[in-house]
Amino acid sequence: MKIFAANWKLHKNPKETREFFQEFKALCSLRPQTKVLFFPQAICLEAALTAVSGTGISCGAQNIYFESKGAFTGENSAQNAKEMGAEWALIGHSERRSLFGEVDHGLAKKVAHAQSLGLSPMLCIGETLDQREKGETNSVLKLQLVQGLSLAEKSKPLAIAYEPVWAIGTGKVASIEQVRETHQAVRQMLTELGFSTSTPILYGGSVKKDNAKDLIQIPNVDGFLVGGASLEPKSFWDICSVDV
Ligand code: 13P
Repeated sequence: MKIFAANWKLHKNPKETREFFQEFKALCSLRPQTKVLFFPQAICLEAALTAVSGTGISCGAQNIYFESKGAFTGENSAQNAKEMGAEWALIGHSERRSLFGEVDHGLAKKVAHAQSLGLSPMLCIGETLDQREKGETNSVLKLQLVQGLSLAEKSKPLAIAYEPVWAIGTGKVASIEQVRETHQAVRQMLTELGFSTSTPILYGGSVKKDNAKDLIQIPNVDGFLVGGASLEPKSFWDICSVDV
C-alpha cells in the first residue's frame, strides 16, 4: 500500500478547499494499492471532510494537542477532529518544530493521544542541512524516533514521514541514493524499536510529478508527503497516479 498525502500548510480557505475537491474528484480514480489523504488547516477540515465523504479519500489534522479539552487556547482537539471524521494526525512537522518550538517529548504525548482516539499519527522526522553535512543524519533521526515514539502503542496504526529539512519547499529533492540509504536506516531503527515492518515510511521534500516516479520505486519508500505540489488538483493527482 502506497500513501500519497497532501500537506496544505496554511493555504486555502474553505471555498478554495471545496473547489479543489470538485476538480480533484473528477480526476481521481483510487486504486486499491494506494491511499490518498489530505491535511488541510483545521479551519478547512470540515469543508474537506464533507467534500471527500464516500470517496475513499481520507483527511487528517495538521496538528493536535495532547489533551482533548480544557483551557488550551489556540490548540486543536484531536477528539473533535476524530468526531468530524478525520482519520489521521500529522505530528511534529519540521515547521512545527522550528517555528513553534515543538519538542520530541511533547510530540510523544501527541502520538499516544492520537492513537488512543483511533487517529493514525504520522510522525515527521528529518535532519537539517548542517546536521547532514556533519554526518549526524542517522543519530538525529534515531533520537527523533526514540523520543517521538516513546509512548506509542506498537499494535496501533502509525506512519513516519521522513522529510529532510533542507528539501522542504526548496526545490532541492534528496538524491535517489540519499533517500534509499536514509529510508533503509529508518526502517532498521523502527524494527530495532519493535515497530512492525509494515509501518509506512513516507518521503517528503520537493516531491513533484517528475521525481515521484523514481522515488516511489525505492525500497522502503511507502509514499509521499507533498507540500507545494499538492495545492493544484492536477499536479497532486499526477503524483498520486504514478506507477507503483
Ligand atoms: P514541499 O513539497 O513544498 O517541499 O513541502 C514538503 C512538506 O513540508 C510536506 O510536509
